[in-house]
Amino acid sequence: MSTDRLWQLQPEGPAYRLAQTTRPRPTPGPGQVLVRVRAVSLNYRDLINLRKTAGREVGGRIPTSDGAGEIVAVGPDVAAWKPGDRVAGCFFQTWIGGPFELRHHHADLGGTVDGLLAEHALLSADGIVRVPDFLSFQEAATLPCAGVTAWAALVDRGNLQAGQTVLALGTGGVSIFALQIATALGAKVIVTSSSDEKLQRARELGAWQTVNYRTTPDWDKEVWKLTGKRGVDHVVEVGGPGTLEKSMQSVAAGGQIALIGVLTGFGPPTASLFPLLARNVRLDGIYVGSREHFEAFNRFLIEKQVHPVIDRVFPFDDAVAAYDHLASGQHFGKVVIDGV
Ligand SMILES: NC(=O)c1ccc[n+]([C@@H]2O[C@H](COP(=O)([O-])OP(=O)(O)OC[C@H]3O[C@@H](n4cnc5c(N)ncnc54)[C@H](OP(=O)(O)O)[C@@H]3O)[C@@H](O)[C@H]2O)c1
Repeated sequence: MSTDRLWQLQPEGPAYRLAQTTRPRPTPGPGQVLVRVRAVSLNYRDLINLRKTAGREVGGRIPTSDGAGEIVAVGPDVAAWKPGDRVAGCFFQTWIGGPFELRHHHADLGGTVDGLLAEHALLSADGIVRVPDFLSFQEAATLPCAGVTAWAALVDRGNLQAGQTVLALGTGGVSIFALQIATALGAKVIVTSSSDEKLQRARELGAWQTVNYRTTPDWDKEVWKLTGKRGVDHVVEVGGPGTLEKSMQSVAAGGQIALIGVLTGFGPPTASLFPLLARNVRLDGIYVGSREHFEAFNRFLIEKQVHPVIDRVFPFDDAVAAYDHLASGQHFGKVVIDGV
């Protein structure tokens, strides 16, 4: 029997630590495929799980939702896939299409079920998508959470149109995908960051305007000015309670705030929600997306030939360093870990 290497979340103190271990290579059962993982990418959520910030029990779990690789074996009843197919996992293994249902909470990779930071991963044959030919495994591994979230927020829920304005907070994974998607669709994107150097890189990727939120703490007033006192049509809200007030002050009448992130924590918003009413604004709670969203996003990437922005790639054995790099906030776009 072959042995696989993997990383596991093991309880340590009040939270978890990453530990490398081994297991017998799994065999796909009915409805499953076995994927040789070639690359995974990290999301802020992986830090939340590691630090137990949201109180979630993930002891013994293989972490990370995002990964890509090739199928090496299929279950007895699986006809749609064959060994050699290049695939990426869907964040929710059971959300194929249609509206979100609460049962999908029981099938999120690297959370309720094992993720992809392993030599091989067992995935549902319904919970994978084909990797576009023009993307490498490292690039494809960046898509399932951050990429699909940005797509679902702006395009599916937001109905983003050419000429509209988008505000993306910071230069992490979700926000850089939002910048790339919106720019490719002909929208005008304002990016905020704590770093002028990162803002320069955002401009090179097509950002229309940039604001340093550290040197301009009242960045909402700057956004107001930049949009001729109109506000933006869409806010990619990854900050949460600490940024929502300024996001509400940045949004245009009839606009959309896609509520995505918790970079400033899980607490309640400190601000009045009144601007939402006064501006007839839509507040869209977003939790990644379905396989159909992922497939639509892939078609878009192929059509526009958009390559994800990879900040840095770490070897499999350096997963802890990769997590530390994400936690440092030095990255721009996505942090990737290679397969074994
Ligand atoms: N709901 C969902 O489906 C979903 C899906 C994906 C992610 N998320 C959430 O969305 C957030 C972003 O995730 P991610 O994986 O893209 O994170 P990430 O790559 O780790 O992004 C980190 C970056 O965010 C920026 N940032 C941090 N604090 C900020 C603040 N107060 N204001 C503005 N920007 C700030 C910083 O950019 P600069 O260095 O440029 O300042 C930082 O480098 C997380 O809270 C994550 O949990 C939710």
